[in-house]
This record gives sequence, C-alpha cells and structure tokens, in this order.
Amino acid sequence: MLRLFTACALALVFAAAHADETLATVTSPDKRLVVTVQATGEGRLAYRVERDGKPLVNASRLGLLLANAHQLDGGFKLAAQATCEHDDTWEQPWGESHWVRNRYRELQVDVTQPGQADRRMTLRFRVFDDGFGFRYELPAQAQLPVARISDELTEFDIAEPATAWWIPAGEALVLEYPVNRTPLAEVGLANTPLTMRTRSGLHLALHEAALVDYASMWVRKVNGQKLRAQLAPSATGAAVEKRGAFTTPWRTLRVAESAGALYESNLELNLNEPNKLGDVSWVKPGKFAGVWWEMHLERSTWSSGPKHGATTANAKRHIDFAATNGFRGVLVEGWNLGWDGNWVGSASAFDYVKAMPDFDLAAVAAYAKAKGVTLIGHHETGGNVARYEAQMNAAYALYAKHGVDTVKSGYVTDIGTAQFANASGGGTHFGFTESQEGVRHYLHAVTEAAKYRIAVDTHEPVKDTGLRRTYPNWLSREGARGQEFNAWGDPINPVEHEANLVFTRMLSGPMDFTPGVISLDGARGRHLNSTQAKQLALYVVLYSPVVMVPGLIEHYERWPKAFQFIKDVPTDWETTKVVHGEVGELATIARKDRRSEDWYVGAITDGDARRLTLPLAFLDPNRRYRAEIYRDGDQADYRDLQHRFDLVTEQRTVTSTDMLPLRLAPGGGQAIRFVALPR
Ligand code: NOJ
Repeated sequence: MLRLFTACALALVFAAAHADETLATVTSPDKRLVVTVQATGEGRLAYRVERDGKPLVNASRLGLLLANAHQLDGGFKLAAQATCEHDDTWEQPWGESHWVRNRYRELQVDVTQPGQADRRMTLRFRVFDDGFGFRYELPAQAQLPVARISDELTEFDIAEPATAWWIPAGEALVLEYPVNRTPLAEVGLANTPLTMRTRSGLHLALHEAALVDYASMWVRKVNGQKLRAQLAPSATGAAVEKRGAFTTPWRTLRVAESAGALYESNLELNLNEPNKLGDVSWVKPGKFAGVWWEMHLERSTWSSGPKHGATTANAKRHIDFAATNGFRGVLVEGWNLGWDGNWVGSASAFDYVKAMPDFDLAAVAAYAKAKGVTLIGHHETGGNVARYEAQMNAAYALYAKHGVDTVKSGYVTDIGTAQFANASGGGTHFGFTESQEGVRHYLHAVTEAAKYRIAVDTHEPVKDTGLRRTYPNWLSREGARGQEFNAWGDPINPVEHEANLVFTRMLSGPMDFTPGVISLDGARGRHLNSTQAKQLALYVVLYSPVVMVPGLIEHYERWPKAFQFIKDVPTDWETTKVVHGEVGELATIARKDRRSEDWYVGAITDGDARRLTLPLAFLDPNRRYRAEIYRDGDQADYRDLQHRFDLVTEQRTVTSTDMLPLRLAPGGGQAIRFVALPR
C-alpha cells in the first residue's frame, strides 16, 4: 500500500440536541458535498445532503427497528462528534485499475438514548468527492447484549426529479431481471445498485458496501422520491441478529456528473476493509473455455446418459482447444454426481467428490496439467447450502489436490427456497440467499476456499458490495441476467441489456456474464440481440477478471477473424477510462493491459446505430500504436439474420492525438486493440 496522507484528529465536542437541531456537518474533500446530521424535537435522527449549495438528499430518517428491545428510532441526544481526514492510495491485486485513491472526510456522531438506560449508537459518515457512505455502529453494551433488527428506518429522499434504472427485489429470480427504466417516483421494491439521473444531469447510484453478516438491503418507495431500506427477510426470525458490538454495512450513494464518472467511482471498494488474506499471488485472472454453452444450447446434458457433456473425452477436447489458443482454464460442468433428476432446491442431492462413471477427474486434471491448462472447478448446489457446507472442505481439498485453483459455484433455486442447516437440533429450513444467513454462507465459502488457495466465481450470488478488496479470492460473480438467458430465456435479454448493465450491475463489481457467443444463436431458434462485433466489445466493456470463452469450438473455428480478438484480449487492467456513456444506451470503455503497454477499447450500443468519435488521448503521447479494429460492417444490424455477422477488421497506425470514428450498428459494437509499437 502506498500511503499518501492519513490524519484522523478526533476532536470530541460535547453538546446536547435541541429541537430540529443540526448536530454535525461534514464536507467532501472538494467541499462540493455537504452532509448534515440533524435531530427532530423528539430526538429522531436524520441526514441531508447538499451539492454545490443545492439539496441533493432531503432530510432522510435514520434508525433501526428492533424486535427484542425498544426501537433505535428516537429520543437520541448528541454525546460527541468528531471529524477525520484520510487520503491514501492502495494497490489492487487485480481489477479494473491497479491503484485506487481513497480520499474522504469522516464524521463520527455518537448519540445516546437517555430514555433507554443511555443506550449508545454511533453514526459514521465518509464523504468523498464522488459520493458518500454511512453506517450504524453499536458498541458492546449491557443495555443491548443482543439486537434483533427487524428492519431499518434508513431513508434516501432524492431531492431533484430523476429517472431510475433498477431491478425488482423480492421476486423469484432474485437478481436476474432485465433492468427497468422508470421515473424514480415509480420505483417499487428494488435491489441495488439503483442508478438515477436527475433532471439537471447528475448521476447517482444507491448501493451498499461491505455486506458482512447482515441482511442484504433492498429499497422501496415510501412516497414521492423517498426510498426506504428494507432488509432481506430471514426465514427464522428478525432479519438480522447481532450480539455485542457490531457495525452495519455502509449505505452508499455515488454522485457523479456523467454516467462514465459514475462507473469510474471506487466508492464501495474504498469503504471495504483492506485485504485480509495476505499474499494472494495464487489468485489468477484469466480466460477459460469449457463444457458449458453446449448444455445451455441443449446439445448435451449435465445429467448422465448418452448426451452427457462432462465426459473425459469432451473435457480433453476442450483442454486441447484451450492449450492451442492460450486460454488459462477449462470449466467442466456436470462431472460430479447429483445432476440426474431435479437438482434444484430441496431436491438437490449433489455429491462434490464423486464423479460420473464416464468422467475421470484425476486423468483429466493430469492431462490439463501436461498441456499447461488449469481445470476450473464447479460446485452447483441447487441452493442446498446445508448439504454443500457439510461437504465443502472435502470438495475444496479434492480440487486443491488436482491443481484446481478457481471454482465456479452456483445456487440455482427460487427466492426463499435455499436450504440452510438449523442452528441446533439438526435438520434444515428454507430461507433466502440474500438473508443474513445467506450472506454469511457466501463469505464462508470464500474464506474456506482461501484456505485451499482457491478463488471463487459465485453464480446466483448475493450482490457484490466490494468485498473483493478484503477477500481478493472472490474473483467474480454472476448476480444479474447473464448470457445464458440468450440460450433459453423467455424472453431473451433485450438489446439494451448490456448498456444497462454497465451503469447498474457493473457498479457493484465484476460479472461473469460470458460474452463471446459469436454464433449469435441460442437454443430453439433464439437469436441474440447482438452483432458479432458487440460480442467482442463485451470482453472490454463488462469487466471480470475471469472470463469465459463460452462458444462451441466449431463456432470459433468458423469465425477465426472474430476469434482473434477473443484470444488477444486480457482480463486484468492497469487503468480504466469511460470515454462515452449513457445509461442503457451506449458505453465506450478504454482499458490498459496490466501486463503490457497495449490498450483495448470496447464500444456497445442499444438498438440504435451510433456514429461516435473516439479521441485517443488516453494513449501514451510518446508512442505509436497499431490499432487493430473489429467493427460492424456497413450493413450489420442485430435484426438482420445474415448481416449481424458482418465484421470488418482494419489496421492503422495511430497516436494519442488521433481521433477514430466509431460506427456502431443497431445492436452493435466495436472492439479495438492498440498494440504499442517499438519506440
Ligand atoms: C446457473 C449458472 O448461471 C450457469 O452458468 C450454470 O451453467 C448452471 N447454473 C448450472 O450450474
């Protein structure tokens, strides 16, 4: 870690709260954001935020509802307050950028509840130039040894009329919905990140950071543009149970002047704790091929039988493919017992160490090793967390023995139908993956994996809240509607889906979306809402340190020109810049390779054609580059079954003072590799 400046002068000021009194304020380092904490006459707490002197968040309540004790909702008095400044730059082991600046001003507000035996609580705000976060902190206190939190009173009352992009919460498919675009006042029950654009053009994103041992936060409309936190439910009691001292996750609001700046913010990462795993050189970004899309296309099966996909022979074929084309890994889904019959929810009966008869794990792992390829493990749980936890250590140990250093896990089940072990007395109960016990499990799976030097790519996860900073072996997640919906979805993903994801889901962290389906077809006559060039651009636009090359081998053999970009594009970046961005419409992202001087650009659009100009100012001014361009052909259009494949490749020598025209077809994209030429 490169430490620039840290000064945290805790000057405690004791005061008492009077009616509607401002208790404390804090500004962002650039002074444009001002957060004020206030109390009403009854000692109810609220905060409000101004930006450049104008209201950004109207007075919004703070507090917690308890099931086992008097509410933490009012009767508060200010006990002390303190401010603090911080500025450092920390190193990411992998990511969209190598270095992250963490600069904020902090306000600590200590309050007591005189009517409740002086129960104590702290509100901590951290205000950055690009947004703020706050959390509740409860010290260990005899007056509240156990807190059963039934819900939060936390509100977010956005002052200026705004448009919102959001996915529903509390619905069957958990996070896997197309993104809604509505007036903010028409949001129902939403998950986060929830992205907003105000009438004056400010871009905001409401989310949370450091979701640890607590229920996931949903938000629901109260009235007007006021949203209130709603904790994901527990199946067994209050949403959250805490003993002794505890802190809640940070409730966060990114604030930016453009969609691009919203994406570039590292607010949630900065609000997470530094790496707790120490040396993580064993965590390896990279691309992987595998036995996967063929099952989604219904060409083979996860289950046993004549169409079983995960055979030793098929795995070896993919290992050869990966070795020939320089891909680090091969994923083989469906190799273990448990895929026959209904494997979802309570029916799930996976065995994580026993292989199907036609799959020889030791032989496949040895074959991969000899070819310089790593197997990517797979743990589908069907949401049966209890069963998985009982076998987890044996399962990781087996993989570690065979050199598997990354595991894709899965929790396919409807909302509320995951199965968890009872705390005592044996047996299991149904519950929610986004509940406190779900949140605990996902992190437990990651920290246990770390003991075996295994990294995790979670599908059907709880949403990302920046925990990759603390646990860098949590490499990626799904957590949105991925490419697989284009195989069997009803409906498939809409044409604006990826342009939505960039400025919604991707704000939370890496996504294992599986770009690169250059055949552009799903199962049973479904056609992707995409041109071929867009599939290439997605490798740059939708960040994940582990990225699949999912198509069938024959597809990449058929379209070698497009395949070249997929072979070349890296998955770990030195730096990232958003060049163009409009939520749900278009995104152009430039990223510099972490291991070379080369740059890559991906541009995508929704259903509209675009003519854009790409200034190359991000390139090193002292170098020349060979731009290898992959663009939509002049007649390309995602709706045209023939011309959606039109891909033009061109090369030209460029410098940082050049401008490149970008021509994106409807549903199209453009990918560019900038190879630094010898000086
Ligand atoms: C859903 C995952 O998203 C997908 O990638 C996987 O193939 C299936 N579950 C089976 O585990």
